[in-house]
Amino acid sequence: MKVAVLGAAGGIGQALALLLKTQLPAGSELSLYDIAPVTPGVAVDLSHIPTAVSIKGFSGEDATPALQGANVVLISAGVARKPGMDRSDLFNVNAGIVRNLIEQVASTCPQALIGIITNPVNTTVAIAASVLKKAGVYDKNKLFGVTTLDVIRANTFVAELKGKNPADINVPVVGGHSGVTILPLLSQIPGVTFSEQEVIDLTKRIQNAGTEVVEAKAGGGSATLSMGQAAARFGLSLVRALNGESNVVECAYVEGDGEHARFFSQPLLLGKNGIAERKPIGTLSAFEQQALSGMLDTLKSDIAQGEAFVKS
Ligand code: NAI
Repeated sequence: MKVAVLGAAGGIGQALALLLKTQLPAGSELSLYDIAPVTPGVAVDLSHIPTAVSIKGFSGEDATPALQGANVVLISAGVARKPGMDRSDLFNVNAGIVRNLIEQVASTCPQALIGIITNPVNTTVAIAASVLKKAGVYDKNKLFGVTTLDVIRANTFVAELKGKNPADINVPVVGGHSGVTILPLLSQIPGVTFSEQEVIDLTKRIQNAGTEVVEAKAGGGSATLSMGQAAARFGLSLVRALNGESNVVECAYVEGDGEHARFFSQPLLLGKNGIAERKPIGTLSAFEQQALSGMLDTLKSDIAQGEAFVKS
């Protein structure tokens, strides 16, 4: 099993690479790529950790040496938010980076499962899909926007509020990955109930949790360590499913049946070919139903922006 991380010298990339070096199954290969010249050094540094995971680092303009034979590609290359920015402000820079990297994925490892971390995820996933389609290699069961950070934040905040162990909480988060498009389904947590005010406050906190970190870092970037953990969890789930483990379920932002929007985050059963089954989002509370209807214009326009970018 070979996992490639693109953007591996960044805040997320380094945290993610560390977790993968320590947690990938024995015999796996880890491949790090970033335009930053430090990247081979990051790989040498990690190579001194005694696990049976081999690791190589690549830098420069060409990502293809890192992508040869990759089964899973995780992309966190691009710029991150500063205070006062929202995720859509990153579009101008990150759209081109994602297009360029996905072109190289399409030509080098078109069978790989691809997880896009680079923001704005609502839009960069649409860009990736269009680029893969243009190259004739798009498989909608193999392209994912990584929204796991919303899930782990929701689990943490619910556990804090209710005095539970976060490991016992699993909140499905559906929709997209920015502001109002993030919809935690708080009505679907077994054994946990909330007042109306708690639902309003918690939903808002989960939607704005990224901004909480951006403001606390005061110009030093956005979430990197919690995102590294989230991306590692998602990447390891992909690897477990590829290795034939059953019942691997994660929420991610993928092309579905288009019932709500062309791309939509929902629970997915993962298998040897990527998505084995898109699970229904279940019965929503009145609050969730209203939040779902309220997000769709934003989500659809984020997606259209990505589609238009590749066409132009
Ligand atoms: P960072 O600035 O620390 O790292 C980004 C890395 O990308 C840098 O090492 C840079 O050299 C590299 N890079 C830039 N252009 C590249 C290219 N063309 N090819 C290869 N590498 C390139 O940023 P950080 O904090 O790691 O964030 C990365 C991205 O992840 C941002 O877009 C951020 O908004 C996003 N993000 C996504 C989250 C999610 O939940 N999906 C959560 C938090 C951040």
